[in-house]
Amino acid sequence: MNVHDMTTAPPTAPTPPAFAAFAPGLFRGKRVVVTGGTTGIGLAIARAFATLGAEVHVASRKEEHVRAAVAALQGAGAGSVHGHVADVRNAEVMAQLAASVGPTDVVVCAAAGNFPVPFDAMSTNAWTSVIDIALHGTANTLRAFRPKLQPGASVTSIVAGYAWTGAPGVSHSGAAKAAVLNLTRSLAVEWAPVRVNAVSPGPIDGTEGIRRLADELGLRSQLEAMVPLGRMGQGDEIANACLFLASPAASYVTGACLVVDGGMDARGPFGGLLT
Ligand code: NAP
Ligand code: COA
Repeated sequence: MNVHDMTTAPPTAPTPPAFAAFAPGLFRGKRVVVTGGTTGIGLAIARAFATLGAEVHVASRKEEHVRAAVAALQGAGAGSVHGHVADVRNAEVMAQLAASVGPTDVVVCAAAGNFPVPFDAMSTNAWTSVIDIALHGTANTLRAFRPKLQPGASVTSIVAGYAWTGAPGVSHSGAAKAAVLNLTRSLAVEWAPVRVNAVSPGPIDGTEGIRRLADELGLRSQLEAMVPLGRMGQGDEIANACLFLASPAASYVTGACLVVDGGMDARGPFGGLLT
């Protein structure tokens, strides 16, 4: 029978091998900075660029994260790897980081903080701490590296689908990600020809974000059931999107948000209820 049988679920497609869609050495000679590049999705992004030959700089607050990431990346990547202890909340520190890194081709802003708490139970400091990292930290990073950006440079910020819906339970993060998405669009215009884009991951397995948002609350299976592709994503699948946006294949892509969420956002207002 040639017609797809709608009564059975389509088979889950196998996950492609990491970064195989990109030419080896694609980012050789390029310098890439990833804030929050020491763990989770940021580390996967850093590994992807290193694998394709880039000189990669990862930065985050905790020295133990920085050391572990550099060790892990040196084993995995073909490009050179540098680690920096730097807090994105501190504009002066970020300016020092940019000065020490030097001319830069790609910046990925992945640093963020998040924890589930209803707005009514959220202290002022809890609100401020998340906004400070995710929003002000992104602005500090972009402001610091702006004078270092080379011809053909691109920057990418990691947002989340609740940037354009509500974010009940994580309203601080939602407000920050919405602002970062808007900043992305503003800078795509102000900074052209530098390309400025965002990537919006769905739930990514094995990350601190999912541990806090799904595992601690026991919501893993419900969350997976909300993803049309039937599974959580992998860090490498977000890294692939970042590689694309930084590559010549995306030379006419700016001000965009690439949604990499297994179809979650496409479920729309009925949430798949009518299928
Ligand atoms: P994660 O591993 O906790 O990543 C956050 C990173 O930010 C860590 O490396 C952390 O390292 C760093 N960081 C935190 N505060 C910082 C600061 N003040 N200055 C510099 N670095 C700081 O969590 P993740 O889940 O992979 O999240 C990565 C990104 O993906 C975030 O932007 C998140 O919002 C986004 N995202 C994640 C998911 C998901 O399913 N996990 C979904 C949508 C979007 P230190 O602790 O060493 O500072
Ligand atoms: N529920 C409610 N409030 C919380 C909370 C939770 N789960 N976790 C932290 N807070 C509050 C704290 O109580 C504090 O408020 P208070 O001073 O009124 O008590 C405020 O948030 C700041 O906490 P603190 O631990 O001092 O902040 P920090 O700057 O050291 O760390 C965080 C920032 C809180 C975002 C921390 O979770 C972090 O470091 N996150 C990075 C990793 C991450 O969040 N990854 C997930 C993916 S983005």
